[in-house]
Amino acid sequence: MKTAANGFNRTIDLKNVSISYDDLGEGPIPVIFLHGFPFDKSMWQNQLEYLQSSRRVIAVDLRGFGKSKDEETVLTIDLFTSDLIEFMDKLAIDKAIICGLSMGGYIALNSIHKYPERFQALILCDTQCIADTAEGKEKRYKTIDEIENAGLIEFYEGFIKNLFHKDSLINNKEMVEELRTVVFSNVQSSITRGLVAMAERTETCSSLNSIELPTLIICGREDVLTPLAQSEFMNGKIKNSTLKVIDKAGHVSNLEQPKEFNNYLSNFLNDIS
Ligand code: MLT
Repeated sequence: MKTAANGFNRTIDLKNVSISYDDLGEGPIPVIFLHGFPFDKSMWQNQLEYLQSSRRVIAVDLRGFGKSKDEETVLTIDLFTSDLIEFMDKLAIDKAIICGLSMGGYIALNSIHKYPERFQALILCDTQCIADTAEGKEKRYKTIDEIENAGLIEFYEGFIKNLFHKDSLINNKEMVEELRTVVFSNVQSSITRGLVAMAERTETCSSLNSIELPTLIICGREDVLTPLAQSEFMNGKIKNSTLKVIDKAGHVSNLEQPKEFNNYLSNFLNDIS
């Protein structure tokens, strides 16, 4: 049974939000997993199960997503970062290894730049350091208007189509359905506020060359939302980074090819221990 007593769906109160998280395994420096938009901590379940026998692993529901309910606050990448640091403070975690996918990667990069002393290593999955272009920003605001006029269904269907490699859609229907359920469980305001947070994010590319931490970059070869070229760019700028490309994966490489993803992840974690 997944209960708070055995590490699942624990809750911690920050200043103005309750954060739900899974906290499994033991070890001095936990790996904290940050999900993408608009998912929740359940997207990391496979990685938590795989790693929990050898280390402490934590997956959080970001404010406004999953069980971390917040339907009003204006969401920003900076706010997610300060939530993360407050979360670590409350759990007395001095240092963590941070792993973020897509929007989770935007938060990880922002956190590393603001609080480098709080992290031991960085794992960037299917993400990028650029800000939205003017055109990209306009598209996000147009999407918000469409959602406000017509609801979420059309947005969801378009979004889900772009998430996966074509083989996942055919051969891994169960995983696709599970993620669809997570996506469809969001309240409308979390989707629109999440889109604003991403549209208004600032770039982190110009400070990549100051990252000193060991860094693993993982990307699905056919990621159309945050394409491989973006990971290659970050890998070229970060001094101490390695890039692993996962075949037959799109934007959610940890879900589409968990075995390969977990191997890369655990090899990296063993190397830095
Ligand atoms: C995500 O998966 O977090 C988002 O699709 C990223 C984005 O839209 O920029």
